Amino acid sequence: MISTPEVSLDIGAIQSADAANQQLNAVALTDATASITARGGYKPSNPPKMIIMFDGVCNVCDTFVHFVYPRDVNKKFSFQALQTTKGREIQNYYGVPTDLSTVILIDEETATYTSKSTAVLRIMYHLQSPYSYLYQFHYLPAFFRDFCYSTFARYRYLLMGKKDTLKGLNNGVAITPPMGWNTWNHFGCDTSEINSQLIYETATAMVTSGMAAVGYEYINLDDCWLAKERDADGRLQADPIRFPQGIAPLADYVHSLGLKMGIYEDVGNLTCGGYPGSENYFEIDMKTFAEWGMDYVKMDGCYFPVDDMEETYTQLSEILNATGRPMVYSCSWPTYAFVNNQTVNFTYIGEICNLWREFDDIRDNFDSWTGILDQMMQYNRAPYASPGHWNDPDMLEIGNGGQTTAEYQSFFSLWSIIAAPLIAGNDIRNMSADIINILTNADIIAVDQDALGIQGQRAYQSGTSEVWTRPLVGGAIAAVLFNRGEQPATIELTSDILQVSSNSQFLMRDLWQKTAPTQVFQGSSSFSNIDAHAVIMLKLSPITGSFGFILPQLRLCMFKSATIIDHSIGPFTLNYLTCVSYRTS
Ligand code: GLA
Repeated sequence: MISTPEVSLDIGAIQSADAANQQLNAVALTDATASITARGGYKPSNPPKMIIMFDGVCNVCDTFVHFVYPRDVNKKFSFQALQTTKGREIQNYYGVPTDLSTVILIDEETATYTSKSTAVLRIMYHLQSPYSYLYQFHYLPAFFRDFCYSTFARYRYLLMGKKDTLKGLNNGVAITPPMGWNTWNHFGCDTSEINSQLIYETATAMVTSGMAAVGYEYINLDDCWLAKERDADGRLQADPIRFPQGIAPLADYVHSLGLKMGIYEDVGNLTCGGYPGSENYFEIDMKTFAEWGMDYVKMDGCYFPVDDMEETYTQLSEILNATGRPMVYSCSWPTYAFVNNQTVNFTYIGEICNLWREFDDIRDNFDSWTGILDQMMQYNRAPYASPGHWNDPDMLEIGNGGQTTAEYQSFFSLWSIIAAPLIAGNDIRNMSADIINILTNADIIAVDQDALGIQGQRAYQSGTSEVWTRPLVGGAIAAVLFNRGEQPATIELTSDILQVSSNSQFLMRDLWQKTAPTQVFQGSSSFSNIDAHAVIMLKLSPITGSFGFILPQLRLCMFKSATIIDHSIGPFTLNYLTCVSYRTS
Protein backbone atom coordinates (compact mmCIF):
# COMPACT_ATOMS: atom_id res chain seq x y z
CA MET A 1 0.00 0.00 0.00
CA ILE A 2 2.52 2.57 1.09
CA SER A 3 6.01 1.93 -0.14
CA THR A 4 8.84 3.61 1.64
CA PRO A 5 12.09 3.61 -0.28
CA GLU A 6 15.35 3.92 1.62
CA VAL A 7 15.65 7.27 3.25
CA SER A 8 18.85 8.80 2.03
CA LEU A 9 18.50 12.38 3.12
CA ASP A 10 20.71 13.21 6.05
CA ILE A 11 18.69 15.31 8.40
CA GLY A 12 20.79 14.68 11.47
CA ALA A 13 19.09 12.49 14.06
CA ILE A 14 18.97 14.14 17.44
CA GLN A 15 17.65 11.27 19.47
CA SER A 16 17.92 7.51 19.37
CA ALA A 17 15.34 5.53 17.45
CA ASP A 18 14.16 3.97 20.72
CA ALA A 19 13.43 7.31 22.28
CA ALA A 20 11.62 8.38 19.16
CA ASN A 21 9.51 5.24 19.11
CA GLN A 22 8.65 5.66 22.74
CA GLN A 23 7.43 9.18 22.12
CA LEU A 24 5.35 8.15 19.17
CA ASN A 25 3.84 5.19 20.93
CA ALA A 26 2.54 7.54 23.59
CA VAL A 27 0.21 8.90 20.94
CA ALA A 28 -2.09 6.16 19.71
CA LEU A 29 -3.31 6.21 16.16
CA THR A 30 -7.06 6.40 16.06
CA ASP A 31 -9.00 5.20 13.09
CA ALA A 32 -12.33 6.25 11.77
CA THR A 33 -13.88 4.38 8.94
CA ALA A 34 -16.66 5.10 6.55
CA SER A 35 -18.00 4.03 3.25
CA ILE A 36 -17.56 6.38 0.37
CA THR A 37 -20.24 8.48 -1.22
CA ALA A 38 -19.27 9.43 -4.71
CA ARG A 39 -20.38 12.90 -5.78
CA GLY A 40 -18.99 13.29 -9.26
CA GLY A 41 -16.20 15.48 -10.52
CA TYR A 42 -13.43 12.89 -10.40
CA LYS A 43 -12.77 9.74 -12.36
CA PRO A 44 -11.76 6.92 -10.00
CA SER A 45 -8.53 5.14 -10.87
CA ASN A 46 -8.64 2.05 -13.01
CA PRO A 47 -7.52 -0.37 -11.60
CA PRO A 48 -8.59 0.91 -8.16
CA LYS A 49 -5.88 2.21 -5.88
CA MET A 50 -5.21 3.02 -2.29
CA ILE A 51 -5.05 6.78 -2.19
CA ILE A 52 -3.39 8.51 0.70
CA MET A 53 -4.41 12.05 1.29
CA PHE A 54 -3.12 14.61 3.65
CA ASP A 55 -4.69 18.03 3.81
CA GLY A 56 -6.24 17.69 0.39
CA VAL A 57 -3.09 16.27 -1.15
CA CYS A 58 -3.07 12.97 -2.97
CA ASN A 59 -0.26 10.48 -3.41
CA VAL A 60 -1.29 8.60 -6.51
CA CYS A 61 -2.63 11.38 -8.68
CA ASP A 62 -0.30 13.16 -11.01
CA THR A 63 0.03 15.96 -8.57
CA PHE A 64 2.43 16.04 -5.69
CA VAL A 65 2.87 18.79 -3.25
CA HIS A 66 5.02 17.80 -0.37
CA PHE A 67 8.63 18.06 -1.05
CA VAL A 68 11.98 18.61 0.53
CA TYR A 69 14.39 20.92 -1.13
CA PRO A 70 18.10 21.16 -0.60
CA ARG A 71 17.96 24.79 0.43
CA ASP A 72 16.57 23.55 3.71
CA VAL A 73 19.46 21.27 4.56
CA ASN A 74 20.78 24.02 6.79
CA LYS A 75 17.57 23.99 8.76
CA LYS A 76 18.02 20.21 9.11
CA PHE A 77 14.66 19.47 7.63
CA SER A 78 11.62 21.28 6.47
CA PHE A 79 8.72 20.84 4.15
CA GLN A 80 6.40 22.82 2.05
CA ALA A 81 2.77 21.81 1.88
CA LEU A 82 0.53 23.12 -0.83
CA GLN A 83 -2.91 22.00 -1.83
CA THR A 84 -3.52 20.68 -5.32
CA THR A 85 -6.56 20.97 -7.49
CA LYS A 86 -6.60 17.22 -7.99
CA GLY A 87 -6.40 16.61 -4.27
CA ARG A 88 -9.36 18.85 -3.61
CA GLU A 89 -11.31 17.16 -6.40
CA ILE A 90 -10.80 13.73 -4.85
CA GLN A 91 -11.58 15.01 -1.38
CA ASN A 92 -14.79 16.45 -2.70
CA TYR A 93 -15.72 13.40 -4.73
CA TYR A 94 -15.43 11.04 -1.77
CA GLY A 95 -16.86 13.52 0.68
CA VAL A 96 -14.00 12.92 3.10
CA PRO A 97 -13.16 15.38 5.83
CA THR A 98 -9.59 16.55 5.74
CA ASP A 99 -7.68 19.01 7.75
CA LEU A 100 -4.08 19.45 8.66
CA SER A 101 -4.38 16.85 11.37
CA THR A 102 -5.99 14.09 9.40
CA VAL A 103 -4.65 11.44 7.10
CA ILE A 104 -7.19 9.79 4.87
CA LEU A 105 -6.66 6.40 3.27
CA ILE A 106 -9.14 5.91 0.47
CA ASP A 107 -9.53 2.37 -0.77
CA GLU A 108 -11.15 2.60 -4.17
CA GLU A 109 -11.48 -1.17 -4.36
CA THR A 110 -13.61 -1.55 -1.25
CA ALA A 111 -15.15 1.92 -1.51
CA THR A 112 -14.22 2.90 2.01
CA TYR A 113 -11.96 5.35 3.62
CA THR A 114 -10.11 5.33 6.89
CA SER A 115 -8.96 8.46 8.60
CA LYS A 116 -6.05 8.39 10.97
CA SER A 117 -6.22 11.30 13.20
CA THR A 118 -3.66 11.48 15.90
CA ALA A 119 -0.41 11.41 14.06
CA VAL A 120 1.14 13.41 11.34
CA LEU A 121 1.79 11.47 8.21
CA ARG A 122 3.19 13.11 5.16
CA ILE A 123 4.20 11.85 1.79
CA MET A 124 6.98 13.97 0.44
CA TYR A 125 8.93 14.14 -2.76
CA HIS A 126 12.56 14.97 -2.86
CA LEU A 127 13.55 17.19 -5.73
CA GLN A 128 17.19 16.27 -6.11
CA SER A 129 19.87 18.05 -8.02
CA PRO A 130 19.78 19.00 -10.87
CA TYR A 131 16.02 19.53 -10.34
CA SER A 132 16.15 21.22 -6.98
CA TYR A 133 15.34 24.62 -8.48
CA LEU A 134 11.92 23.24 -9.42
CA TYR A 135 10.66 24.02 -5.93
CA GLN A 136 10.21 27.54 -7.24
CA PHE A 137 7.48 26.22 -9.52
CA HIS A 138 5.00 26.39 -6.76
CA TYR A 139 4.47 29.96 -7.93
CA LEU A 140 3.48 28.69 -11.37
CA PRO A 141 0.09 27.41 -12.59
CA ALA A 142 -0.87 24.25 -10.74
CA PHE A 143 -1.03 21.93 -13.76
CA PHE A 144 2.51 22.84 -14.84
CA ARG A 145 3.98 22.78 -11.37
CA ASP A 146 2.35 19.45 -10.57
CA PHE A 147 3.48 17.91 -13.82
CA CYS A 148 7.08 18.88 -13.10
CA TYR A 149 7.09 17.63 -9.54
CA SER A 150 5.63 14.31 -10.51
CA THR A 151 8.09 13.88 -13.35
CA PHE A 152 11.24 14.93 -11.61
CA ALA A 153 10.88 13.99 -7.95
CA ARG A 154 13.47 11.34 -7.20
CA TYR A 155 12.45 9.88 -3.84
CA ARG A 156 9.24 9.48 -2.02
CA TYR A 157 9.19 9.54 1.74
CA LEU A 158 6.64 8.56 4.28
CA LEU A 159 6.88 10.87 7.22
CA MET A 160 5.15 10.40 10.48
CA GLY A 161 5.51 12.35 13.64
CA LYS A 162 3.75 13.57 16.71
CA LYS A 163 1.57 16.52 16.02
CA ASP A 164 3.18 18.72 18.56
CA THR A 165 6.37 18.67 16.56
CA LEU A 166 4.58 20.96 14.16
CA LYS A 167 3.96 24.63 14.64
CA GLY A 168 0.56 25.90 15.69
CA LEU A 169 -2.06 23.76 17.37
CA ASN A 170 -1.66 20.29 15.81
CA ASN A 171 -1.57 18.71 19.25
CA GLY A 172 -3.44 15.53 18.35
CA VAL A 173 -6.10 15.91 21.08
CA ALA A 174 -9.87 16.51 21.02
CA ILE A 175 -10.24 14.55 17.79
CA THR A 176 -13.85 14.12 18.92
CA PRO A 177 -15.56 16.73 21.15
CA PRO A 178 -14.03 16.55 24.64
CA MET A 179 -16.15 14.85 27.32
CA GLY A 180 -15.77 15.40 31.03
CA TRP A 181 -16.87 17.48 33.98
CA ASN A 182 -16.16 21.01 35.22
CA THR A 183 -16.70 22.72 38.59
CA TRP A 184 -18.25 25.97 37.34
CA ASN A 185 -21.90 25.34 36.54
CA HIS A 186 -22.67 23.74 39.89
CA PHE A 187 -20.06 25.06 42.31
CA GLY A 188 -19.27 28.46 40.74
CA CYS A 189 -16.75 30.21 42.92
CA ASP A 190 -17.89 28.59 46.16
CA THR A 191 -14.63 28.24 48.06
CA SER A 192 -16.30 26.09 50.71
CA GLU A 193 -16.76 23.44 48.01
CA ILE A 194 -13.86 23.82 45.57
CA ASN A 195 -11.10 21.77 47.17
CA SER A 196 -9.08 18.63 46.67
CA GLN A 197 -11.76 16.44 48.25
CA LEU A 198 -14.23 17.53 45.58
CA ILE A 199 -11.78 16.49 42.88
CA TYR A 200 -10.98 13.12 44.48
CA GLU A 201 -14.66 12.35 45.01
CA THR A 202 -15.75 13.55 41.59
CA ALA A 203 -13.05 11.56 39.80
CA THR A 204 -14.13 8.47 41.72
CA ALA A 205 -17.79 9.17 40.91
CA MET A 206 -16.92 9.55 37.24
CA VAL A 207 -15.92 5.90 37.30
CA THR A 208 -18.55 4.49 39.69
CA SER A 209 -21.47 6.28 38.00
CA GLY A 210 -20.61 4.65 34.68
CA MET A 211 -19.74 7.99 33.07
CA ALA A 212 -16.10 7.04 32.45
CA ALA A 213 -17.21 3.84 30.70
CA VAL A 214 -19.18 5.83 28.12
CA GLY A 215 -16.37 8.25 27.37
CA TYR A 216 -16.26 11.08 29.93
CA GLU A 217 -12.63 11.65 30.83
CA TYR A 218 -11.69 15.21 31.81
CA ILE A 219 -12.01 16.35 35.43
CA ASN A 220 -11.70 20.12 35.09
CA LEU A 221 -11.19 22.77 37.71
CA ASP A 222 -12.72 26.08 36.67
CA ASP A 223 -12.11 29.46 38.32
CA CYS A 224 -11.33 30.01 42.01
CA TRP A 225 -8.87 27.17 42.60
CA LEU A 226 -6.01 29.62 43.01
CA ALA A 227 -4.20 31.23 45.86
CA LYS A 228 -4.43 35.01 45.70
CA GLU A 229 -0.65 35.33 45.25
CA ARG A 230 1.98 33.69 43.07
CA ASP A 231 4.91 32.01 44.84
CA ALA A 232 8.37 33.59 45.25
CA ASP A 233 9.40 32.28 41.80
CA GLY A 234 6.35 33.77 40.13
CA ARG A 235 4.61 30.43 39.75
CA LEU A 236 0.90 29.98 40.21
CA GLN A 237 -0.13 28.03 43.27
CA ALA A 238 -3.38 26.48 44.34
CA ASP A 239 -5.11 27.83 47.46
CA PRO A 240 -2.97 26.25 50.21
CA ILE A 241 -5.86 25.59 52.59
CA ARG A 242 -8.21 24.04 50.06
CA PHE A 243 -5.51 22.20 48.08
CA PRO A 244 -2.85 21.47 50.72
CA GLN A 245 -0.84 19.16 48.44
CA GLY A 246 -1.29 21.35 45.37
CA ILE A 247 -2.60 20.15 42.02
CA ALA A 248 -0.06 17.53 40.89
CA PRO A 249 -1.18 14.75 43.30
CA LEU A 250 -4.78 15.31 42.22
CA ALA A 251 -3.73 14.80 38.62
CA ASP A 252 -1.88 11.64 39.63
CA TYR A 253 -5.03 10.28 41.23
CA VAL A 254 -7.18 11.27 38.25
CA HIS A 255 -4.67 9.62 35.90
CA SER A 256 -4.58 6.48 38.03
CA LEU A 257 -8.29 6.06 37.26
CA GLY A 258 -7.57 6.31 33.55
CA LEU A 259 -9.01 9.83 33.44
CA LYS A 260 -7.50 13.21 32.55
CA MET A 261 -7.37 16.52 34.33
CA GLY A 262 -7.97 20.10 33.23
CA ILE A 263 -7.51 23.56 34.68
CA TYR A 264 -8.68 27.15 34.19
CA GLU A 265 -6.77 30.39 33.71
CA ASP A 266 -7.31 33.77 32.09
CA VAL A 267 -5.31 35.78 29.55
CA GLY A 268 -5.84 38.96 31.57
CA ASN A 269 -4.13 39.96 34.81
CA LEU A 270 -7.04 38.55 36.81
CA THR A 271 -9.43 35.65 36.28
CA CYS A 272 -13.12 36.52 36.02
CA GLY A 273 -13.39 35.58 39.70
CA GLY A 274 -10.55 37.97 40.65
CA TYR A 275 -7.70 35.46 41.13
CA PRO A 276 -4.22 35.94 39.59
CA GLY A 277 -4.45 35.86 35.79
CA SER A 278 -1.79 34.66 33.38
CA GLU A 279 -0.94 37.93 31.63
CA ASN A 280 2.87 38.36 31.46
CA TYR A 281 3.33 34.81 32.80
CA PHE A 282 2.20 32.67 29.86
CA GLU A 283 5.41 30.65 29.49
CA ILE A 284 5.80 29.92 33.16
CA ASP A 285 2.11 29.12 33.68
CA MET A 286 1.74 26.72 30.76
CA LYS A 287 4.97 25.03 31.82
CA THR A 288 3.58 24.75 35.35
CA PHE A 289 0.36 23.19 34.04
CA ALA A 290 2.36 20.69 31.97
CA GLU A 291 4.49 19.81 35.01
CA TRP A 292 1.41 19.29 37.14
CA GLY A 293 0.15 16.82 34.52
CA MET A 294 -2.72 18.88 33.13
CA ASP A 295 -4.39 17.58 29.97
CA TYR A 296 -6.77 20.48 29.26
CA VAL A 297 -6.45 24.23 29.70
CA LYS A 298 -9.41 26.62 29.52
CA MET A 299 -8.14 30.16 28.89
CA ASP A 300 -10.76 32.74 29.77
CA GLY A 301 -10.71 36.35 28.58
CA CYS A 302 -11.72 38.63 31.47
CA TYR A 303 -9.70 41.81 32.07
CA PHE A 304 -8.09 41.77 28.64
CA PRO A 305 -8.59 43.95 25.54
CA VAL A 306 -10.44 42.06 22.80
CA ASP A 307 -8.25 43.74 20.18
CA ASP A 308 -5.19 41.97 21.53
CA MET A 309 -6.82 38.54 21.79
CA GLU A 310 -5.87 37.28 18.34
CA GLU A 311 -2.21 37.80 19.04
CA THR A 312 -2.38 36.48 22.59
CA TYR A 313 -4.44 33.35 21.92
CA THR A 314 -2.12 32.58 19.01
CA GLN A 315 0.93 33.01 21.18
CA LEU A 316 -0.59 30.75 23.83
CA SER A 317 -1.24 27.98 21.32
CA GLU A 318 2.44 27.97 20.49
CA ILE A 319 3.50 28.14 24.13
CA LEU A 320 1.23 25.20 24.95
CA ASN A 321 2.76 23.17 22.12
CA ALA A 322 6.24 24.12 23.22
CA THR A 323 5.63 22.49 26.61
CA GLY A 324 5.71 19.15 24.78
CA ARG A 325 2.61 17.97 26.66
CA PRO A 326 -0.53 17.68 24.51
CA MET A 327 -3.20 19.71 26.32
CA VAL A 328 -6.67 20.47 24.99
CA TYR A 329 -6.73 24.21 24.36
CA SER A 330 -10.08 25.86 25.11
CA CYS A 331 -10.29 29.52 24.06
CA SER A 332 -12.86 32.03 25.31
CA TRP A 333 -11.89 34.74 22.81
CA PRO A 334 -15.05 34.54 20.60
CA THR A 335 -17.34 35.02 23.59
CA TYR A 336 -15.63 38.30 24.44
CA ALA A 337 -15.54 39.38 20.80
CA PHE A 338 -19.26 38.60 20.53
CA VAL A 339 -20.32 40.66 23.53
CA ASN A 340 -18.16 43.53 22.23
CA ASN A 341 -19.73 43.30 18.76
CA GLN A 342 -16.46 42.35 17.14
CA THR A 343 -16.08 39.77 14.43
CA VAL A 344 -13.70 36.88 14.70
CA ASN A 345 -12.20 34.81 11.88
CA PHE A 346 -13.47 31.37 12.86
CA THR A 347 -11.37 29.59 10.27
CA TYR A 348 -8.38 31.01 12.04
CA ILE A 349 -9.73 30.21 15.51
CA GLY A 350 -10.10 26.61 14.33
CA GLU A 351 -6.42 26.56 13.46
CA ILE A 352 -5.23 27.55 16.91
CA CYS A 353 -7.88 26.34 19.39
CA ASN A 354 -9.31 22.87 20.04
CA LEU A 355 -12.57 24.45 21.18
CA TRP A 356 -13.81 27.97 21.49
CA ARG A 357 -16.56 29.37 23.71
CA GLU A 358 -19.40 31.20 22.05
CA PHE A 359 -22.17 33.57 23.09
CA ASP A 360 -23.32 34.20 26.66
CA ASP A 361 -22.67 31.99 29.68
CA ILE A 362 -25.20 29.19 29.90
CA ARG A 363 -27.78 29.03 32.71
CA ASP A 364 -29.86 26.11 33.95
CA ASN A 365 -33.04 26.95 32.09
CA PHE A 366 -34.70 26.06 28.79
CA ASP A 367 -34.51 29.57 27.30
CA SER A 368 -30.78 29.84 27.94
CA TRP A 369 -29.64 26.76 26.00
CA THR A 370 -32.24 27.07 23.25
CA GLY A 371 -31.12 30.71 22.82
CA ILE A 372 -27.52 29.53 22.34
CA LEU A 373 -28.73 26.98 19.76
CA ASP A 374 -30.54 29.72 17.85
CA GLN A 375 -27.38 31.82 17.83
CA MET A 376 -25.33 28.88 16.54
CA MET A 377 -27.68 28.81 13.54
CA GLN A 378 -28.08 32.56 13.17
CA TYR A 379 -24.31 33.09 13.04
CA ASN A 380 -23.69 29.95 10.95
CA ARG A 381 -20.97 28.46 13.11
CA ALA A 382 -21.41 24.81 12.06
CA PRO A 383 -18.94 24.89 9.14
CA TYR A 384 -16.06 25.65 11.50
CA ALA A 385 -16.29 22.39 13.45
CA SER A 386 -14.03 19.50 12.45
CA PRO A 387 -12.00 16.79 14.22
CA GLY A 388 -9.77 18.58 16.73
CA HIS A 389 -11.69 21.88 16.47
CA TRP A 390 -15.10 22.44 18.04
CA ASN A 391 -17.62 25.20 18.64
CA ASP A 392 -18.27 25.30 22.37
CA PRO A 393 -21.84 26.37 23.20
CA ASP A 394 -20.86 26.07 26.90
CA MET A 395 -21.07 23.28 29.43
CA LEU A 396 -24.02 21.09 30.39
CA GLU A 397 -26.45 22.01 33.16
CA ILE A 398 -28.10 18.58 33.23
CA GLY A 399 -28.82 17.55 36.82
CA ASN A 400 -28.61 21.02 38.34
CA GLY A 401 -32.32 21.03 39.10
CA GLY A 402 -33.71 23.86 36.98
CA GLN A 403 -35.32 21.81 34.21
CA THR A 404 -37.58 18.81 33.68
CA THR A 405 -36.29 15.40 32.62
CA ALA A 406 -37.72 15.99 29.12
CA GLU A 407 -35.91 19.32 28.89
CA TYR A 408 -32.61 17.79 29.98
CA GLN A 409 -33.07 15.00 27.43
CA SER A 410 -33.67 17.61 24.73
CA PHE A 411 -30.63 19.59 25.88
CA PHE A 412 -28.41 16.48 25.70
CA SER A 413 -29.80 15.48 22.29
CA LEU A 414 -29.24 18.87 20.75
CA TRP A 415 -25.76 19.34 22.23
CA SER A 416 -24.89 15.98 20.67
CA ILE A 417 -26.33 16.81 17.29
CA ILE A 418 -24.22 19.99 17.17
CA ALA A 419 -21.05 18.08 18.12
CA ALA A 420 -20.69 20.10 21.32
CA PRO A 421 -18.15 19.20 23.98
CA LEU A 422 -20.04 17.21 26.63
CA ILE A 423 -18.74 18.69 29.85
CA ALA A 424 -21.09 17.81 32.71
CA GLY A 425 -21.71 20.70 35.09
CA ASN A 426 -23.64 19.02 37.90
CA ASP A 427 -22.56 17.35 41.14
CA ILE A 428 -21.92 13.89 39.75
CA ARG A 429 -21.38 12.49 43.26
CA ASN A 430 -25.14 12.80 43.81
CA MET A 431 -27.23 12.05 40.76
CA SER A 432 -30.70 10.59 40.37
CA ALA A 433 -31.14 7.55 38.12
CA ASP A 434 -32.86 9.81 35.57
CA ILE A 435 -29.86 12.09 35.31
CA ILE A 436 -27.39 9.21 35.08
CA ASN A 437 -29.52 7.72 32.29
CA ILE A 438 -29.40 10.96 30.34
CA LEU A 439 -25.70 11.61 30.77
CA THR A 440 -24.73 8.03 29.97
CA ASN A 441 -26.97 7.41 26.96
CA ALA A 442 -24.32 5.73 24.84
CA ASP A 443 -26.29 5.96 21.58
CA ILE A 444 -26.59 9.69 21.87
CA ILE A 445 -22.99 10.06 22.95
CA ALA A 446 -22.02 8.09 19.82
CA VAL A 447 -23.75 10.77 17.74
CA ASP A 448 -21.84 13.51 19.54
CA GLN A 449 -18.57 11.64 19.08
CA ASP A 450 -19.15 10.63 15.46
CA ALA A 451 -15.82 10.42 13.67
CA LEU A 452 -16.81 12.57 10.72
CA GLY A 453 -16.94 15.50 13.12
CA ILE A 454 -19.62 17.34 11.13
CA GLN A 455 -21.69 19.71 13.25
CA GLY A 456 -25.43 19.16 12.77
CA GLN A 457 -27.83 21.98 11.93
CA ARG A 458 -31.49 22.89 11.99
CA ALA A 459 -32.91 21.47 8.76
CA TYR A 460 -36.55 22.37 9.32
CA GLN A 461 -38.49 24.87 11.40
CA SER A 462 -42.19 25.61 11.52
CA GLY A 463 -43.50 27.53 14.51
CA THR A 464 -42.18 25.68 17.52
CA SER A 465 -41.50 22.41 15.65
CA GLU A 466 -37.94 21.82 14.54
CA VAL A 467 -35.85 19.05 12.99
CA TRP A 468 -32.09 19.04 13.46
CA THR A 469 -29.94 16.66 11.41
CA ARG A 470 -26.34 15.53 11.36
CA PRO A 471 -24.50 13.30 8.85
CA LEU A 472 -22.73 10.37 10.47
CA VAL A 473 -20.10 7.87 9.47
CA GLY A 474 -21.23 5.26 6.94
CA GLY A 475 -23.95 7.37 5.35
CA ALA A 476 -26.11 7.30 8.51
CA ILE A 477 -27.98 10.39 9.69
CA ALA A 478 -28.94 11.52 13.19
CA ALA A 479 -32.17 13.49 13.52
CA VAL A 480 -33.68 15.33 16.47
CA LEU A 481 -37.39 16.16 16.23
CA PHE A 482 -37.73 18.99 18.72
CA ASN A 483 -41.00 20.37 20.06
CA ARG A 484 -40.15 23.78 21.55
CA GLY A 485 -43.80 24.52 22.15
CA GLU A 486 -45.93 24.25 25.29
CA GLN A 487 -48.35 21.66 23.81
CA PRO A 488 -47.72 18.14 22.48
CA ALA A 489 -46.91 18.23 18.77
CA THR A 490 -46.71 16.05 15.68
CA ILE A 491 -43.58 16.43 13.57
CA GLU A 492 -43.08 14.90 10.17
CA LEU A 493 -39.67 13.73 9.04
CA THR A 494 -39.26 13.74 5.27
CA SER A 495 -36.58 12.81 2.78
CA ASP A 496 -36.47 16.50 1.79
CA ILE A 497 -35.57 17.48 5.34
CA LEU A 498 -32.93 14.75 5.39
CA GLN A 499 -31.75 15.80 1.93
CA VAL A 500 -31.86 12.25 0.61
CA SER A 501 -33.73 10.90 -2.40
CA SER A 502 -37.31 9.81 -1.80
CA ASN A 503 -36.28 6.25 -2.78
CA SER A 504 -33.52 5.93 -0.19
CA GLN A 505 -34.33 3.53 2.61
CA PHE A 506 -33.08 3.73 6.16
CA LEU A 507 -33.60 1.70 9.29
CA MET A 508 -34.65 3.92 12.20
CA ARG A 509 -33.63 3.55 15.81
CA ASP A 510 -35.13 5.72 18.56
CA LEU A 511 -32.15 6.64 20.72
CA TRP A 512 -34.17 7.44 23.87
CA GLN A 513 -36.67 4.57 23.60
CA LYS A 514 -33.84 2.25 22.50
CA THR A 515 -36.06 0.54 19.96
CA ALA A 516 -34.56 -2.12 17.71
CA PRO A 517 -33.77 -0.59 14.32
CA THR A 518 -36.45 -2.46 12.44
CA GLN A 519 -38.70 0.34 11.22
CA VAL A 520 -37.97 1.40 7.67
CA PHE A 521 -37.91 5.06 6.69
CA GLN A 522 -38.60 5.96 3.09
CA GLY A 523 -39.99 9.26 1.87
CA SER A 524 -41.57 10.42 5.13
CA SER A 525 -42.60 9.36 8.58
CA SER A 526 -44.82 11.14 11.05
CA PHE A 527 -44.20 11.30 14.81
CA SER A 528 -47.11 12.31 16.98
CA ASN A 529 -47.48 13.25 20.63
CA ILE A 530 -44.05 14.70 21.16
CA ASP A 531 -44.38 16.31 24.58
CA ALA A 532 -43.81 19.99 25.28
CA HIS A 533 -40.07 20.83 25.23
CA ALA A 534 -39.32 17.17 24.37
CA VAL A 535 -37.53 15.46 21.52
CA ILE A 536 -37.49 12.25 19.58
CA MET A 537 -33.95 11.43 18.59
CA LEU A 538 -33.35 8.98 15.76
CA LYS A 539 -30.45 7.36 14.06
CA LEU A 540 -31.19 6.46 10.45
CA SER A 541 -28.88 3.84 8.98
CA PRO A 542 -28.86 3.32 5.23
CA ILE A 543 -30.13 -0.01 3.99
CA THR A 544 -27.40 -1.31 1.75
CA GLY A 545 -28.38 -4.90 0.91
CA SER A 546 -30.97 -5.70 -1.71
CA PHE A 547 -33.23 -7.33 0.92
CA GLY A 548 -33.08 -4.56 3.41
CA PHE A 549 -30.36 -6.06 5.59
CA ILE A 550 -27.47 -4.12 6.96
CA LEU A 551 -24.63 -6.42 6.17
CA PRO A 552 -21.83 -6.85 8.68
CA GLN A 553 -18.91 -4.55 8.52
CA LEU A 554 -15.61 -6.31 7.98
CA ARG A 555 -12.34 -5.00 9.12
CA LEU A 556 -8.99 -5.96 7.74
CA CYS A 557 -5.95 -4.94 9.73
CA MET A 558 -2.27 -5.33 8.95
CA PHE A 559 0.87 -4.59 10.87
CA LYS A 560 3.18 -2.45 8.86
CA SER A 561 6.59 -1.12 9.28
CA ALA A 562 7.73 2.19 7.97
CA THR A 563 10.87 4.24 7.90
CA ILE A 564 9.96 7.50 9.41
CA ILE A 565 11.50 10.91 9.50
CA ASP A 566 10.17 12.91 12.37
CA HIS A 567 10.23 16.66 11.99
CA SER A 568 12.42 17.12 15.00
CA ILE A 569 13.80 13.74 16.00
CA GLY A 570 15.18 12.27 12.83
CA PRO A 571 14.85 8.89 11.10
CA PHE A 572 13.64 5.71 12.81
CA THR A 573 11.43 2.71 12.18
CA LEU A 574 7.80 2.67 13.21
CA ASN A 575 5.60 -0.41 13.41
CA TYR A 576 1.97 0.46 13.14
CA LEU A 577 -1.39 -1.10 12.55
CA THR A 578 -3.43 -0.09 9.59
CA CYS A 579 -7.04 -1.12 9.12
CA VAL A 580 -9.53 -0.93 6.33
CA SER A 581 -13.24 -1.46 7.00
CA TYR A 582 -15.74 -2.33 4.38
CA ARG A 583 -19.17 -3.74 3.87
CA THR A 584 -20.08 -6.69 1.72
CA SER A 585 -23.13 -6.08 -0.35
C1 GLA B 1 -16.61 33.18 32.68
C2 GLA B 1 -16.77 31.90 31.86
C3 GLA B 1 -17.41 30.82 32.71
C4 GLA B 1 -16.59 30.59 33.97
C5 GLA B 1 -16.40 31.88 34.71
C6 GLA B 1 -15.42 31.74 35.85
O1 GLA B 1 -17.85 33.74 32.97
O2 GLA B 1 -17.53 32.14 30.72
O3 GLA B 1 -17.52 29.62 31.97
O4 GLA B 1 -15.34 30.05 33.61
O5 GLA B 1 -15.91 32.91 33.86
O6 GLA B 1 -15.24 32.92 36.55
